[in-house]
Amino acid sequence: MNLRLSIERRPRKPLPLAVPVFQTEGGPAWGRGQAALPPALLKEARDDGFAAKGGETHLFHPRDGRPAERMLLVGLGKKSKADGSSVRLYGAALARRLAEVRWPAARVHVPDDVVPLPEAVQAVAEGLSLADYRFDRHKSARPPQGGVRHFFLSVTDRAPKTLESRLNRGLLMAEAVRFARDLINEPPSRKTPVALGRAARELSGGPVRVRVYDKAALGRMGAEALLGVNRGSAHPPVLVHLHYRPVRQSGTAPGGGRPAGKPLRRLAFVGKGITFDSGGLSLKTADGMAAMKYDMAGAATVFSLFKVLPRLAPRLEVHGIAPLTENMPGPDAYKPGDVVRALNGKTIEILNTDAEGRVVLADALSFASRLPADEIIDVATLTGAVTVALGKSYAALMTNTPRLEEGLRRAASAAGEKLWPLPLEASYREHFRSKVADVKNIGNAGEAGTIIGGLFLQEFVGEKPWAHVDMAGVGWNAAGSPLSAPGATGAIVRTFLNYILEADA
Ligand code: BES
Ligand code: MN
Ligand code: ZN
Repeated sequence: MNLRLSIERRPRKPLPLAVPVFQTEGGPAWGRGQAALPPALLKEARDDGFAAKGGETHLFHPRDGRPAERMLLVGLGKKSKADGSSVRLYGAALARRLAEVRWPAARVHVPDDVVPLPEAVQAVAEGLSLADYRFDRHKSARPPQGGVRHFFLSVTDRAPKTLESRLNRGLLMAEAVRFARDLINEPPSRKTPVALGRAARELSGGPVRVRVYDKAALGRMGAEALLGVNRGSAHPPVLVHLHYRPVRQSGTAPGGGRPAGKPLRRLAFVGKGITFDSGGLSLKTADGMAAMKYDMAGAATVFSLFKVLPRLAPRLEVHGIAPLTENMPGPDAYKPGDVVRALNGKTIEILNTDAEGRVVLADALSFASRLPADEIIDVATLTGAVTVALGKSYAALMTNTPRLEEGLRRAASAAGEKLWPLPLEASYREHFRSKVADVKNIGNAGEAGTIIGGLFLQEFVGEKPWAHVDMAGVGWNAAGSPLSAPGATGAIVRTFLNYILEADA
């Protein structure tokens, strides 16, 4: 991305101007920071039908006597309803609109009467960068990057240090999301498990170490569940383990600046990495598998954290684990009726090869449980049922620890993302009791499919604090949205980054 943002406290050169506008009963209204702008502009925009609804824009034609030769009004909606998400959408809406014009640069007012200014600066930066994303690397004729490439965020605050740091945080958050989107949008045959292992290795350096277990190593380890799912594929599986440790600052203990003796918190994130889910022998329909390159969105989410952790530099340890394989119906494919033994010793009877995510995660969660980590959080495009239950705006959250539920929901809310809890109803464990193995990989058709997925995973985490996020509904948006181009959304990345930053606070 060559989009550049900088904070400008006292406007110098004349530049085209983008300003926020609130929707009121009496028509569009300036916010606090725009009070010096002429009211006549609002009347003119209103006469042209502009109401300042959230995301609505109005471009003025150049005319004498304006505060800037060119001006764009962007609606924030009603002030009483506006929040951090409205400010993020403000950034997104103006990025979209300005992509169509030929301004060399723009000055962007940051609204300071919705959320505190540092937060608003971060939100505008996120909105601009997220809306600017396109996946066009496979187009032979790429349309030129349109419009404004240099944004000056115009602020009145006197503490540029905090603003710069929140601007930077917003850009890093968006960079992580864009990184995840690139991986998820990539065609499935170009991101085999080995290729993704290589991409993960590129994240190593400084505070990040990466280990990629290949097929032979997985065999020695006893990761029979991951190997079982892999059997129908021509491409070998890998298991990726990333590890971030805060750099030792000279003269202090690891995690410099901590009170001596206070141990670093250690988090482990686990992401489902099915690089293509055909369903295996329990084959999906053509429609059902059309978007199944995104079945590695959990793994991409985990990778993307490590893309920016060194620069966010939280004082805690973070592990990332991703089991990667295709799920294919090749000649040696695992079959309904097969039994595989997961890394923790539990045996799984396969009754539907399309319920493969929980099978590979059985090994990955067993692996994570052995790490010296205080809590485990997994993220997976696990069930179609989650979209039936919650639609495409909410990810489902299941956990054995209330503190994790609170923390993750707070982190999501700060990111403008949505998590909704589902119960790990213990009595439903009956549903996946197997006659021949410890568990089977499906429950009763049509009954609590997402919860069954969560309960199944719980079998492989032991007693550690653990949370499971089913992101099948939110990970992909075929039509696109104000913050996301069509395809991969990069959902959950910013939620997890907020969670990590909160754990450091
Ligand atoms: N990757 C799918 C889940 C999925 C479905 C994600 C649709 C996104 C959109 C998963 O591997 C799967 O196939 N789950 C089955 C489970 C069933 C066989 C118990 C499902 O949801 O149908
Ligand atoms: Mn499947
Ligand atoms: Zn799947």
